[in-house]
Parts: sequence; structure tokens; C-alpha cells
Amino acid sequence: MLVEGKDICFSYDGSSLALQDVEVNIEKGEFLAILGCNGSGKSTLVKHFNALLPLQQGKLRVAQIDLGNEENIWLLRRLCGMVFQNPDNQFVASTVEADIAFGLENYEVPRAEIPERVRAALALVEMSGYEKRAPDALSGGQKQRVALAGVLALDPEIIIFDEATAMLDPRGRQEVLAIMDKLHRAGKTILAITHYVEEAVAADKVILMHKGRILACGSPETILTDLDLMKEAELIPPLPVRLYYDLRQAGIYLENCPLTEEELVKELWQLRSKI
Ligand SMILES: Nc1ncnc2c1ncn2[C@@H]1O[C@H](COP(=O)(O)OP(=O)(O)OP(=O)(O)O)[C@@H](O)[C@H]1O
Ligand SMILES: [Mg+2]
Repeated sequence: MLVEGKDICFSYDGSSLALQDVEVNIEKGEFLAILGCNGSGKSTLVKHFNALLPLQQGKLRVAQIDLGNEENIWLLRRLCGMVFQNPDNQFVASTVEADIAFGLENYEVPRAEIPERVRAALALVEMSGYEKRAPDALSGGQKQRVALAGVLALDPEIIIFDEATAMLDPRGRQEVLAIMDKLHRAGKTILAITHYVEEAVAADKVILMHKGRILACGSPETILTDLDLMKEAELIPPLPVRLYYDLRQAGIYLENCPLTEEELVKELWQLRSKI
């Protein structure tokens, strides 16, 4: 197990709990979506994985490293890279290349290795050729891909996207989601925090959070098609799921509950052939 957490509780103010008895297990190579409405504790949970927040209560190990020990903080930061929501808040240097190099210098990567790491990371996010460009002048999707290159250059074990697509236009979102998928297929462990339920469909596993607790954990099929569970989490199920239940109410029964538009079309065609 790459991440093993048990009985994690966390409070920002010493009274109300932002995390309550959280148990989380993540396997190497898994694509995990963490889904939940505003304030449900998603960011608070993942900030524990790279020690951005201290472990107050419970047990947590990431790649066999104990989070309780403060000496391990820098090791964990490197092992667990994060891309955040706002593409504009993630740059410090005036060129793409210098920005990624800055991150590597901070982690004391030998200077001789830096140019090759920068080149390889930009190639991974399909931003080769943008080395000398100013981050400010890029589109939102491109900025997020450069921010991701900065993370990838450190060769992390886990890549966390904390609503990294939330501020992007549909095209930028697609660009970032495509890279996420590519990294997953290349064997990286991906944690995607989102409140776009549609983005959780492609995950191996979904963790559903609400009010600092984990409401449920399972396959997208089991979580996203459970109307009661989604209601409890204050989330709206994906459109094909809603349509499936609306049709049932109208006396029209699709064979399986579809999660994607493609699956919905398939189900509707099967229905047509029965009429
Ligand atoms: N820096 C902070 N100081 C005090 N309280 C905080 C802080 N950050 C988050 N909280 C509180 O902790 C709880 C969990 O917040 P968290 O940011 O983890 O939720 P989230 O699921 O990531 O929400 P969102 O979808 O809005 O990003 C909320 O009640 C929030 O108000
Ligand atoms: Mg958050």
C-alpha cells in the first residue's frame, strides 16, 4: 500500500473537526478521485500526504514513511507533488524553463541534471518549445501543464491535483485531464480532487467525502449511481445517471445505469432495438 491512513482527525481551530476518523488506503498506480462538496475536507486530507499539514491525530504512512516524524517532511514533499487550483499562483520565475529549474534547485537536485529534467518534464506535458516563454502569457491549461511539469521534474511517486481543472475553460480542462490519464497509464499514482462528478468517472476508485468524513469508497459505478449516497454528499450525479432514473420513473427501463454519454447512447440504442 502506498498510502495507509487510519483514524485521522484534524482541526484548524482546536474545536471543529475538518477531518474526522478518516481511513484511507491508496495502492501504487491507482487513479483515485476524491469527491465532495465545498468544505468537505478534501484539501485538508491530501495536504496531510505531503506534510503541508501536520498529523494531529491518527496514523499515516506514505511510501512506508511515517508522517508522525517531522524529519521526513522534505522527502515527502518530493514524493508527493501537488498541482493547485489557481494556475496564476504557481510561478516564481519569468520563463517556463527558469520556473521549473527553480523548483529543482530548491530540492537540491544536482545542477548538471537540471536541463535534462526540465526538457523531459516539458515533453511529458506536451509543452516542449515553450522553454523561453513567460508563464504569464500562457493559456490557463498551458499554465497548469507547466505547473505540472515542475512537479514531474522531481519524479514524484504520487501526483495530487487539487481541483486543478476548476478554473480552466473546457479546452484547458480537457488538456489537463488528458495528461492526467497519460501519467496514470505510465504507472503514476494519481489523486484527483474534484467536485465535477464527471471527472470521477474515469477513476479506478472514488472516495466520497462529506463534513470531514469519508462517506463511501468504491468504484465509480457503485458510488456515482447511488442516488441516496450522492444526495447525502450534496452532489448531483452525472447526467446519464440522472437520465437513467428519470426514464425509470417514466416507466422506461434501461438495462444498465450509464456513467458516460457513450454508455448512455449505447443503452438508448439497445432500448430502440427492443421496441
Ligand atoms: N486554513 C484554514 N483555516 C481554518 N479553517 C479551514 C482552513 N482551510 C479549511 N478550513 C475549514 O476546514 C473544512 C474543510 O475544508 P477543506 O478546504 O479541506 O475542504 P474542501 O473539500 O477542499 O473544500 P473546497 O471544495 O471548497 O476546496 C472547512 O470547514 C473549511 O472551512
Ligand atoms: Mg479544497
